[in-house]
Amino acid sequence: MASRKILITGGAGFIGSHVVRLMVNRYPDYHIYNLDKLTYAGNLENLRDVESKPNYTFIKADIVDGEKMQSLFQEHNFDGVIHLAAESHVDRSISNPMEFIMTNIVGTVSLLNAAKASWKNFEGKLFYHVSTDEVYGSLGEEGFFTEETKYDPHSPYSASKASSDHLVRAYHDTFGLPIKISNCSNNYGANHFPEKLIPLAIHNIKNSKPIPVYGKGENVRDWLYVEDHASAIDLIFHKGKVGDTYNIGGFNEWKNIDLIQLLCKIMDQKLGREEGTSAKLITYVKDRAGHDLRYAIDAAKLNRELGWKPSLQFEEGLEKTVDWYLSNEEWLQHVTSGDYQKYYEGQYIKR
Ligand code: NAD
Ligand code: TYD
Repeated sequence: MASRKILITGGAGFIGSHVVRLMVNRYPDYHIYNLDKLTYAGNLENLRDVESKPNYTFIKADIVDGEKMQSLFQEHNFDGVIHLAAESHVDRSISNPMEFIMTNIVGTVSLLNAAKASWKNFEGKLFYHVSTDEVYGSLGEEGFFTEETKYDPHSPYSASKASSDHLVRAYHDTFGLPIKISNCSNNYGANHFPEKLIPLAIHNIKNSKPIPVYGKGENVRDWLYVEDHASAIDLIFHKGKVGDTYNIGGFNEWKNIDLIQLLCKIMDQKLGREEGTSAKLITYVKDRAGHDLRYAIDAAKLNRELGWKPSLQFEEGLEKTVDWYLSNEEWLQHVTSGDYQKYYEGQYIKR
């Protein structure tokens, strides 16, 4: 008998697949259930190395389906939930907000209801909600987001995540549901769908296609290697205080244009191109509507209380990421065929 049954939602996505892999391998006495709808962003190829492990089960389902969530919770009596399933791309939230409202808000409430109804006694149970720093809004040149920063989301994506954070806290305050929340900065690493800046730029550089930089490229993001995010989630899940929020970040701010320049340099080296070749692909394009200027996380609480800090320097992580994409040609080909072409055309060619 597995000692704990853990439900991970969105485990076939970018971050979720790293969390699933870590939990399956690190805790052989847990049983990990990965529940995923397999949208365009969900990909079971991300989990080939864990799918035959005895402590792993995949469930294809939509978190918006409340009845299904109730019956799964009744059937399996999960001890804990790590909730990552979401629509996650800001540009898609601008063109189709409703999908974000359904999955990120209604889907989260349907999971909360299932947990509340099936967990007659909350003892030893935990609902851990994985969220983003984008709920805090946009910073100027100075300052950092702390756990006390007031929510001020701007995009439909960040507004939907803010709403789900509030609902998770509301179930704690109103019904006593044991919860934890973490808000993390921008992740990068293997298995990242090439709609987000870093994997999209790697894909385009590889194919000598334009690298679209929004506006003047002066927006700032704080980048964290995805495996460091996964290790923080593990730590918070096991050692964090129930009811608390933790910020997770890399203390690693980059202006988009500087990041792209660095990536071009790494790609030139890896592809054996003359230095400066890839940078010629940089193309400034129309800015994103409502584009937040700067995100920067203060992760001091997580460091102080649980001893977490990022393990990799950015240059090292970026190189590892480029290596992964260059040696996983088939993965990239699969995810960029079909619907991706339509998305790319709508987003960039007709921009
Ligand atoms: P992703 O888009 O790569 O993956 C999302 C996963 O959720 C996919 O596997 C998809 O199939 C699944 N999913 C979507 N709708 C679903 C539904 N209705 N029912 C069940 N499954 C569904 O996202 P990601 O980048 O891995 O992000 C995971 C979580 O982490 C999200 O909650 C996101 O808000 C949060 N987050 C992401 C970042 C980042 O930089 N990517 C940073 C901080 C927080
Ligand atoms: P993205 O990876 O979409 O993450 P988020 O919007 O959640 O921070 O974008 C990171 C930054 O890169 C953001 O400032 C928008 C910018 N960007 C571009 O300049 N070009 C692109 O093609 C994309 C996808 C993003």
